[in-house]
Amino acid sequence: MSQTTIHTTALSLGPGQPPLSAVLREEVAQFLFTHLEEYGDDLPDIQACLDYAAERGGAVFTAREEGRLLGASITNRTGMSGFIPENILVYIAVHGDSRGKGVGKGLMEAITGHLSGSIALHVEPHNPARALYERYGFTNKYLEMRLTR
Ligand SMILES: CC(C)(COP(=O)(O)OP(=O)(O)OC[C@H]1O[C@@H](n2cnc3c(N)ncnc32)[C@H](O)[C@@H]1OP(=O)(O)O)[C@@H](O)C(=O)NCCC(=O)NCCS
Repeated sequence: MSQTTIHTTALSLGPGQPPLSAVLREEVAQFLFTHLEEYGDDLPDIQACLDYAAERGGAVFTAREEGRLLGASITNRTGMSGFIPENILVYIAVHGDSRGKGVGKGLMEAITGHLSGSIALHVEPHNPARALYERYGFTNKYLEMRLTR
């Protein structure tokens, strides 16, 4: 049986970094829109998250096998530290056909290895992704509350 390798890459974005290509922006946004499933957002929100990263700071992480996108994540830099974590892991998803094979772990290793400073994220209490985050040291000391408007 032939074995293929999954390549995980980190791309820093923001001031002083090369611009995010329109092709990658579209590919990552569409991928996340499709594979986040019930944990996702509308496409314009995912595009806005990429645009924030490109303009103000953040990163895009991709996992590919022979060029095919199997997983992606977007992080944003908050511009703050100490009282607020430096980074927010906004989206992470693995292709629906490729889950449970370590692609998510590869992305988390890239994310925790590449970013400097603390990382915040939110996850629904019953989402299996919670086990993945806990494996990488994420804890939930706080209850997130929002005034949505
Ligand atoms: C969460 C997600 C990114 C994990 O990716 P993945 O490639 O399937 O994860 P991995 O194969 O690398 O598994 C990593 C760890 O996550 C946990 N995990 C992942 N999926 C799980 C599941 N369905 N049930 C229980 N644990 C799970 C396990 O602890 C696993 O570690 P182990 O192999 O030592 O048991 C993927 O399931 C996904 O895209 N889900 C839909 C989108 C989503 O929920 N995103 C997060 C929103 S907060």
